Parts: sequence; C-alpha cells; structure tokens
Amino acid sequence: MQIERIEVTPFGGQSPGTSGLRKKTRVMMEPHYLAAFVQSIWSAIDGVSGKTLILGGDGRYFNAEAIQLILRMAAASGAARVVVGQGGILSTPAASHLIRKRGADGGIILSASHNPGGIDEDFGIKFNGANGGPATAAVTDRMVVASQAIDHYLMLDTPDYSIDLVGQGKIGEMSVEIVDPVADYAEMLEELFDFDKIRGLFAGGFRMAFDAMHAVTGPYATEVIERRLGAAPGTVMNGTPQVDFGGRHPDPNPIWAHALMDVMYQENGPDFGAVSDGDGDRNMIVGPSQYVSPSDSLAILAANAHLAKGYRAGLAGVARSMPTSRAVDRVAAAMDMPCYETPTGWKFFGTLLDDGRVTLCGEESAGTGSDHVREKDGLWAVMLWLNILAETGKGVGDIMSSHWATFGRNYYTRHDYEAVEVDRANAVMDGLRAQLGMLAGQTFAGRTIDAADEFSYVDPVDGSTASAQGLRLSFEGGGRIVFRLSGTGTQGATLRVYIEDFINDKNALDGDVQVMLEPMIALADRLARITELTGRDGPDIRS
Ligand code: G1P
Ligand code: ZN
Repeated sequence: MQIERIEVTPFGGQSPGTSGLRKKTRVMMEPHYLAAFVQSIWSAIDGVSGKTLILGGDGRYFNAEAIQLILRMAAASGAARVVVGQGGILSTPAASHLIRKRGADGGIILSASHNPGGIDEDFGIKFNGANGGPATAAVTDRMVVASQAIDHYLMLDTPDYSIDLVGQGKIGEMSVEIVDPVADYAEMLEELFDFDKIRGLFAGGFRMAFDAMHAVTGPYATEVIERRLGAAPGTVMNGTPQVDFGGRHPDPNPIWAHALMDVMYQENGPDFGAVSDGDGDRNMIVGPSQYVSPSDSLAILAANAHLAKGYRAGLAGVARSMPTSRAVDRVAAAMDMPCYETPTGWKFFGTLLDDGRVTLCGEESAGTGSDHVREKDGLWAVMLWLNILAETGKGVGDIMSSHWATFGRNYYTRHDYEAVEVDRANAVMDGLRAQLGMLAGQTFAGRTIDAADEFSYVDPVDGSTASAQGLRLSFEGGGRIVFRLSGTGTQGATLRVYIEDFINDKNALDGDVQVMLEPMIALADRLARITELTGRDGPDIRS
C-alpha cells in the first residue's frame, strides 16, 4: 500500500454555499474534482492526522464511490479512525449525533439535501465540526482559500473497503468502523420523547403517514415509527432509499410531497402526516386536510415542547433564521424567553446552542431542531409533534386553531423563482437595494413601511459577523417582505421572496394563505419589479 501524491491545479468555484459544496453530479465526478475539495477540507482543519471522523451520506448517486475516495484520502493523510454508516448511509442529524456521541473531531456528510439525485442531478459534500454542526464561516473560508491554492492531494493506493457489514477493520494504519446508521440515533430519540405515551396513541387507533421519499429517512422512520412505536406496517411510504430518490425531488414541500398531500387531503385520511428530505434534516407536517407551515410548526413546538420528556424543564430560548415568520417571536415574548434572529443556514444556530442560549431553533425552509444535535432534524420534529399530540389528546387542526387564537396568526408564504439568469436576479436585488434608504415612512396600497434594510448579523457569542443576508421591508401592523438569493442552487440564481402578514382578527384566522397575502404579494412585485426584471409571470414554487 502506497501513498500517492497526485498533482492538481485549482478547479475554481469550490466555494461551499449555505450548506456545503453542491454541484452537478457529473462535475463532482470529474477526475480529481472531489479529491481536490477533500484535500482542501484537510487543509482547513489543520490536517486530518490523528483525528477521528464520522462519514456517511444520504445514499444518492455517487455516494458509495465518494465514501471510498474519502476513506483512501483520510488514510493517506494519517487519520486515526473513520466511523462509517453501514452502506455509506447516515442522515445528517444522525451524523451530527454520532460526532457528538463519539467525541469525534468532525465528520463528512455527502448530500445535496433536498436537491434531486442521479448522474444528471446534484451531489454535495459538507464538513461538520466537533460540536456536530456545519463548519463555521471561518473554517469554510479556509476551505475556499485552500481550494484556490491546491497543487496536490494524497491518496492511499488500496482496494475498496467493504462498508456493507457492521464491524471493525483497517485501511493501512487507519481504523475503520462500520456502524448501524440507525441504532444510536433511535436510542437518542427514546431519551427525548415519551415512547410509551406515543405507543399508546398508536395502540388506540391513531393513524399516520410518513413519506420517506425514497431517501435516507426510510430506515430511520421504519425502525422508530413502525417497529418501536408500533404504528401500522405501511405507515412509512417510499421507505426504500434509492440513488435517484425514485426520480423525485426529495423536498418536503406541498408540491414535491404531493403523494403525502394526496393521502392527507383525502376523506377519512390519517390523523397525522409527515415527510422528510434527502438527508433527513427537514420536515413538513400535515394534519387531516391541513398543511402546517414550517414557521407555524416552529412556533407550536416552542409553545408546547415542555410536554415532552426531554424538554420538561422548559426552553432556555429560541432562534429563527431571519426570513422565517415571526410567529415564534410571539411565543417567546409570551413565555418570557429570549428569541434570536440569525442569518439563513443552520451554522448560525451553532454558537447559540453551544452557549446554552437557545434550546429550540428553526427555519422557514422546513428545518426545526434543538440542542440535542447541531443540525436540523426531521424525524426529531415529527417525534415532538407526536409527543404533543399524545400528551394533549388533540388533533393537529385543534392545536393550530388554539395556537392562533392565543397568539394571532402570522400568515406566511415563500415564493421561489428558480434558475433565473444571474444578471436578472442581481438586477432585482440591486434595484431594491438602491431604494432601501428612501422606503421607510412611505405608504403603498395603504401599507406603511416602517423599516427597510439589508440584514447583517453580529453573533452575540463569538462576535463574528455576516453581511448582505437579505433585504427586509417591514410594515406597520406586523407585515414583512424579505428578498434574498439562494445559496444552495446549482443552476442560475434562485430568488426567494418571503411574505408575511400578521392577523389577529378572530374571524380571519382560517383564511387561504395566498389569498390573505395577495396585497402584500402584489406589493413585493411592485417594489422589486420582479415580473419586469426577471421576465417571469409568477414564482415556480409557492410554499
Ligand atoms: C436553503 C434554505 C435554508 C437552509 C439551506 C440548507 O438555503 O433556504 O433555510 O438552511 O437551504 O438546507 P438557500 O437556498 O435559501 O440559501
Ligand atoms: Zn436536508
């Protein structure tokens, strides 16, 4: 076995976005491309020598090959031990948990999250640090710098290592341990939630549908929901992971998860529905004929978390990403706990969680989580909902109505314009940015803007800063419009427009979201000239 030194020149464009490096799979498969980035990760963490890493992915196309490449590279650069999910599988939250449980130095997760998989679709790689969370901005910056200066990488010349059976072995000097990807994670859920109570719910005839979308949560949900909680066989739909996720986008929104929506909106359908994404960190919750927006879900979980075993002591505080609706702020105010507003991306919650300032956090993009790991966690959110349903004996619809009756309702929608030409998307943002200074105090269609700015953030724990995190217009009465460009797309630019309005009129709490927000939606288009500058007559996705 020989360590090979392979000369390369920088590829350019190897800069991680909101969540790791995502590229078209064929780009990742180009000779030396992935290896160059992995070597840049080693550089960014001051080398991998003597370290322990966790390694796994969501099982998408090229997952298995990438695992072998990373094992050879870790061995070549002196890693002490790599713990790999059996078959190369680890959901993002399970990887985060394993990093923490094993006291590892970090981990590599192979996933492009909710983006489709396949040779013509997307692939991704992200590094998480010793706290189990996404690499900090400083580490990410070092990766970029290293990728721009790279001239070689190291690779051990060794055959593929079999990752199909649980057990221990060696590649060169490096220890390799193949572990059951589900066991530790399921055990952690048993510590946080009242399994007996939830088992009682299912035993009493409660019916659920969980759509795993042929992605990584299939084995996790089957083990936890069907085997340990006793839900009827078949509760988990599309539970067998496939490299192309069955050709679908494993994205938990009402459009891509229409199979679940159909089940939940049929007459006499299940009592509770949920779906996760490619790598298992996102979730969408649906009641009988009732979609629960992720922002509302976060607020409801914050208001009720104390009903679950692991959160009985109450929450230290909550955090939400800036574009997430401000429904959770109302809960925090009522419960007298701090509420933080962070830039988009889970990495910004890490310091707040590590410092014990917040227990629960979430994003409008179907991500909710707590201090149990340092990633958002789809199945965890489903479990917390189940625990609340079991404890209160109420249905999803009742929980939502009583929540809105207590706190008022933040009507909320996100409109995405996908694969827009980069120049056009920039024109929208630049045009609006240029007006920001003049907008406060102005009234449009009867709504007065009380503040207009570009969001920047100073981390209250470590003082690090993030600028240009989205353009915000807030209106008197609690309305708000936010504009930002996606940092996870792989094609052109994705313009995201987040629209929110606060209604506390008891007779207007059950309205249709798109109808209730119509005036604000029109205002967003008028102020940012979206139709005119993008040439699109409407968004691709309304969620
Ligand atoms: C999107 C979501 C964001 C999430 C990220 C990674 O990022 O909007 O909330 O943290 O995916 O899952 P974006 O494409 O908007 O940059
Ligand atoms: Zn994801």
